[in-house]
Amino acid sequence: VGRFLGIAALPRHHGASSHVIPQTNNEPQGLRHYLQVLRRRWMVVFLCLAAVVGSALGVSLLQDKVYDASADLLLQPSQSEFLFDQSGQVITQPQRELGNEVKVLKSVSVRKLVEEKIGGAPRISTHTAADNDVIRITARNRVPKQAALAANTYANAYIEYRRNQAVADLVAASEQIQGQITKLEGDIKGIEDQINQGTPVQRELRTAELGPRRDALIEQQTLFRQKFDQLQVDVGLRSGGARLVSPAEVPTVPAEPQPVRAGFLAGIIGLILGVGLAFLFEYLDDSIKSKEDVDQVVPDLPVLGLIPAMKDWRQRDRPLLVSATDPSSPGAEAYRSLRTSVQFLSLDRPVRIIQVTSPNAREGKTTTLSNLAIALASAGQRVVVVCCDLRRPRVHEFFGLSNEIGFTSVLLGEVAMSRALQPIPDQPGLHLLASGPPPPNPSELLSSQRTREALGVLAAQADIVLLDCPPVLPVTDAAIISKYADATLLVATAGVTHKRELVRAYELLRQVNAPLVGSVLNGITRESSYGYTYDRYTPEKKSRRAKAVRTGNGAGDKQQQQPKQPPRPKSGTRR
Ligand SMILES: Nc1ncnc2c1ncn2[C@@H]1O[C@H](COP(=O)(O)OP(=O)(O)O)[C@@H](O)[C@H]1O
Ligand SMILES: [Mg+2]
Repeated sequence: VGRFLGIAALPRHHGASSHVIPQTNNEPQGLRHYLQVLRRRWMVVFLCLAAVVGSALGVSLLQDKVYDASADLLLQPSQSEFLFDQSGQVITQPQRELGNEVKVLKSVSVRKLVEEKIGGAPRISTHTAADNDVIRITARNRVPKQAALAANTYANAYIEYRRNQAVADLVAASEQIQGQITKLEGDIKGIEDQINQGTPVQRELRTAELGPRRDALIEQQTLFRQKFDQLQVDVGLRSGGARLVSPAEVPTVPAEPQPVRAGFLAGIIGLILGVGLAFLFEYLDDSIKSKEDVDQVVPDLPVLGLIPAMKDWRQRDRPLLVSATDPSSPGAEAYRSLRTSVQFLSLDRPVRIIQVTSPNAREGKTTTLSNLAIALASAGQRVVVVCCDLRRPRVHEFFGLSNEIGFTSVLLGEVAMSRALQPIPDQPGLHLLASGPPPPNPSELLSSQRTREALGVLAAQADIVLLDCPPVLPVTDAAIISKYADATLLVATAGVTHKRELVRAYELLRQVNAPLVGSVLNGITRESSYGYTYDRYTPEKKSRRAKAVRTGNGAGDKQQQQPKQPPRPKSGTRR
């Protein structure tokens, strides 16, 4: 136990995985999560934004130009109306009256007047404000002059209509007064006729009797006359209560299109749409994206390693063994961290044969296994890598070795194990048993007693035997191999492996009682990992070093800096 340089002092089970994950974020629904989603799906947001803004700009640039011209009408009780107002007070126009006037402005009568003047009644819009009595009439036209003409014609037609109405009212009133005057005249005449009849004495008597009444009537008549005269003056003065305060001018700048405004609005809409789509895609995307996802779908499978995605790997033909080629890289550090977690497994029981598999092909099984092998060997362990993937063997390519003689050759009894084992150049303590010539029936061969024996022989000779397996879902080989393993590692790749695939693979392995010990999340990016990637460790970067120590990632380095331990003397067969 003590051989792992003090790590035994750490908590046993979950210590292995939690030291890999420094600041566990158990709240994936937080703001941080939303930001991660946006960071991961920025392309969707960007494309949406570009599409919406682009089309808005395109449309507005192709659009015909239209011009708006506005005329302002001030509604005001005219001076002549004050004369009429019995109380003599200024009649204020509340908003309601302004609304009535807008209705009048758009009425058939006014439209008819406009039609008479310019041979048509174009559509107009009106605008009123709460703090004044101005009605703004706006007309829109492709020809600027026509727009101004329409607005002004409407304004003038309204004024004319209002004046006609007012004049008609006055005329009706004068006619009524005229009638009163005529009636009074008749009455006065009748009284005078009565007075003038008979003798002078009689006349005098009647004058005394009827005179006051006659005088009253005359006075009344005079009043009516005065009013009538006033009305005659008013008819001339009458404005109808509306004035054109600012006539429409010919516009020079088009009202539409306004590319800047359209672009701005489209930007807002595009952004909302893009963010919405990003979250929709995120919701629909069933792939594993973070450690939290793994924890969620297979809760009893601790994540033993987080391997960052390395940019150039997928592009190269020859797989890179980052643990060998660039030991200070974040990737190598991640594999050392995985190594530590794997070493922890031996605390409870001897773990000699470790199987590495994943739900599907190309999820990084071989990559993980090869790098882990180098990491283990560099910590002084004697490691044998066995290629149990008899269908698509690749481990030998990783180490640049041949596949002519290998596992199948041993199983068929063609060569001895010692001849089939190839030492891996520059990696003391590391041996490879390639797959050998492809057999016609891999599953049968793997379930044979000879396989068990062969692996037993290897386990007796090495500290750790790593089995590279085919994927779980397409073929049954991994389930078969699990019989021989002490530990099964399930690899999943961020953004590639689907949640249900991981669950299905987990269930299949559980069904055959595979010794599942944990998972490895491969190919994580800064976006997918909630920031749990490994920083390159170099001695100059003191702060990073401090961080690495704090988070426990420095454990691997301590071992790295130590002189390589000689292979431990074999302590007999443990299995
Ligand atoms: N962490 C990683 N970052 C980048 N590329 C990776 C990573 N892990 C694996 N790959 C690449 O993915 C491909 C498949 O990996 P491999 O280990 O052969 O998968 P498997 O053994 O599961 O079929 C390889 O080209 C490998 O270089
Ligand atoms: Mg493979």
